Amino acid sequence: MITLALSKGRIFEETLPLLRAAGIEVLDDPDTSRKLILDTSQPGVRVLVVRASDVPTYVQQGGADLGITGRDTLIEHLAQWGGSVGAAGLYQPLDLGISRCRISVAVRSDFDYAFAVRQGARLRVATKYLAIAREFFAAKGVHADLIKLYGSMELAPLVGLSDAIVDLVSTGNTLRANQLVEVEHIMDISARLIVNQASLKLKQAPMRAIIDAFASAVAA
Ligand code: PRP
Repeated sequence: MITLALSKGRIFEETLPLLRAAGIEVLDDPDTSRKLILDTSQPGVRVLVVRASDVPTYVQQGGADLGITGRDTLIEHLAQWGGSVGAAGLYQPLDLGISRCRISVAVRSDFDYAFAVRQGARLRVATKYLAIAREFFAAKGVHADLIKLYGSMELAPLVGLSDAIVDLVSTGNTLRANQLVEVEHIMDISARLIVNQASLKLKQAPMRAIIDAFASAVAA
């Protein structure tokens, strides 16, 4: 049995065409079914529906053989392992090029960011992405006091909880709707295929078939 961990939403939707290219059709719809283990048209392949931030954990611990996760989620997960995919017992064979967005710094439109980040300054930053934010501001020589939030980061500067946020930006609509402006582009994000190293050794042929089919679909 090959087990693939996916999160609901954009990653799930955008993975379906890649699975189809590998000859795999998911037989349940996670939006209408409450099932967490989904059957596919291939009896030897199943899909787990997990929280986005849990995908790397499932694959690392062998609860799934493969998983699809955002680069953001993967970097935050790997921070516990010195940032190393290999140290976590994983391979990252493919950038799938789906679920693209970016991680940016945003502030209230009336906030003087350039003044605030002058050398040696302190900045209060609300984010879910502690490792990414820490690394980014350290490289700039800005002392960032990080405030961990789990969602709705855009609220923090509006109520004075922080000066800035570090968050995903896709269309920019959420920032605009909350009078925030993007002041720094930290990195581009896309979904990555991750693979449990031990699973790949034990189930070489069927896992290679899926990885190769994904690779061809991405190249095409
Ligand atoms: C993400 C992100 C922003 C929004 C950006 O939130 O945190 O809030 O999408 O997208 P946009 O630029 O197209 O407006 P998501 O809806 O994924 O929920 P989350 O707050 O749980 O991360």
